Amino acid sequence: MAAALALGLGLGACDDGGGAADDPAVTRIPARPAQRSGDAAAGWDFLRYGDYVGSGVPYEIFAAFFASSPPPNRLDREGDGATVPYSFNVFETPTGVKVAGGVNCFGCHASRLDGAFVVGLGNAFSDFTAAELTDQAPLVQGVVEGRYGEGSPEAEAYAVFARGALAAEARSLLPFRGVNPAFMFEESVAAHRTADLGWSEEPVFAIDAGPIGSDVPAWWLLKKKNALYYNGMGRGDFARLIEQISVVATYGSAQTEAFDAHFGDVLAFIMAIEPPAYPEPVDSALAARGEGVFEGSCSACHGTYGEGGEYPNLLVGVERVGTDAAYADRMLATGLIGWYAASWYAEGTEVAPARAYVAPPLDGVWATAPYLHNGSVPTLAALLDSSRRPTYWRRDFGDTTYDHAAVGWPYTVESGPVDVSTYDTTQLGYGNGGHTFGDALSADDRRALLEYLKTL
Ligand code: HEC
Ligand code: HEC
Repeated sequence: MAAALALGLGLGACDDGGGAADDPAVTRIPARPAQRSGDAAAGWDFLRYGDYVGSGVPYEIFAAFFASSPPPNRLDREGDGATVPYSFNVFETPTGVKVAGGVNCFGCHASRLDGAFVVGLGNAFSDFTAAELTDQAPLVQGVVEGRYGEGSPEAEAYAVFARGALAAEARSLLPFRGVNPAFMFEESVAAHRTADLGWSEEPVFAIDAGPIGSDVPAWWLLKKKNALYYNGMGRGDFARLIEQISVVATYGSAQTEAFDAHFGDVLAFIMAIEPPAYPEPVDSALAARGEGVFEGSCSACHGTYGEGGEYPNLLVGVERVGTDAAYADRMLATGLIGWYAASWYAEGTEVAPARAYVAPPLDGVWATAPYLHNGSVPTLAALLDSSRRPTYWRRDFGDTTYDHAAVGWPYTVESGPVDVSTYDTTQLGYGNGGHTFGDALSADDRRALLEYLKTL
């Protein structure tokens, strides 16, 4: 069950490297407004113990599932939180019921690499392929009502959680592992929410398209960004924007209003995260040569690194970057955007989808495989040479060993989909084409560039 609930501006200032300057398909994202300030340590605690999920399964019942084999305490929690999987928080609902609710932020924004647990790294191991909650909900509801009685605050707490989680799951199942349906969760649940986050059995907007998942971006990149999300649509008060996860299981806007006060601290925590340093030896002469290649071919879009580095915050039209357009198109078409603009979450923010993707900062990029917004490319070596990108590739999700030669996840090439561990780039939204900026480089230059990318 744990896994289941888991829920063209003039670019005169740019160099010409990569040809981004004066390209009408490339626009500069305006500087972000001043953000809330906060206390990073308090943010870390709120993320691990706070009530932002909204509701959950009564704790006694949830904990019983894990009583005989306690999960590893990856978030170093004390008390009840130490007894549940790290992707769940234990907290009290506004009605005084102690629940375990998830997924919390870490269910998607923490991951494993070479055996280490890395907070802020997008979870590239998640599995949203099966309707486990839908299968188990009647049983859990029966247990909760049997113990506490129908109509009890405990039964209500579970109902508030389950209605959202079931609505989310019903429309967000993905075809294979390693991709994440966060905005599909939000869309499916928002379709049952009024502007002040009350529940509506009747859908308030129609959903006409199937789910498309994405990779999860690393949190340490946020400090450089003027806008959130792959298509740059999240503008304004970042703290408010990242509260959207609560749409699934909140009791309503009175509850979200109460935890809004903690999100300045949460933002401070996220802004303070640094990327992990590359753990293996780097050939520094080769990397120095790679830096020159990077400045010639990549910096115009991705910026410069090290002392005095600058990040240009560019949004690149899909016609220019050439990567799979379906995710950007899905965000342009969804009723979620209009719903959002009229909702409790809109205050101080603007959501402006574009048919474009942000050229992300590349700090710690060695660790963030798979690559591109849809995670369709398993390694940096394949990203830099599109002829090496596999159409069907299969990972061992039980193994966190990283490939430090190609820089990314080890995989086997398959001739077709084998099972849910096979990434299928022929499916809508999961294409691995485009971003061919490394193709014209010589093999030597690519090798040097790969070495340099390890140092960012
Ligand atoms: C169900 C998985 C899931 C959960 C839970 C989740 N996120 Fe995310 N988050 C994502 C995905 C996927 C994206 C990328 C979506 C996109 O860009 O289109 C994202 C994007 C973000 C970003 C923007 C990063 C960027 O560089 O654009 C921030 C910040 C963020 N999440 C913070 C949070 C916080 C804080 C929480 C908890 C309150 C949270 N997320 C809960 C999956 C999740
Ligand atoms: C015209 C602008 C542009 C140029 C030039 C460019 N990129 Fe990109 N890059 C992008 C955009 C936009 C994305 C996001 C595309 C997507 O996710 O679909 C991206 C994504 C990436 C990613 C994936 C990041 C991740 O975590 O998934 C890497 C790595 C990368 N670029 C490296 C490079 C390198 C190395 C070069 C030079 C050979 C380069 N880029 C040249 C615009 C550019």
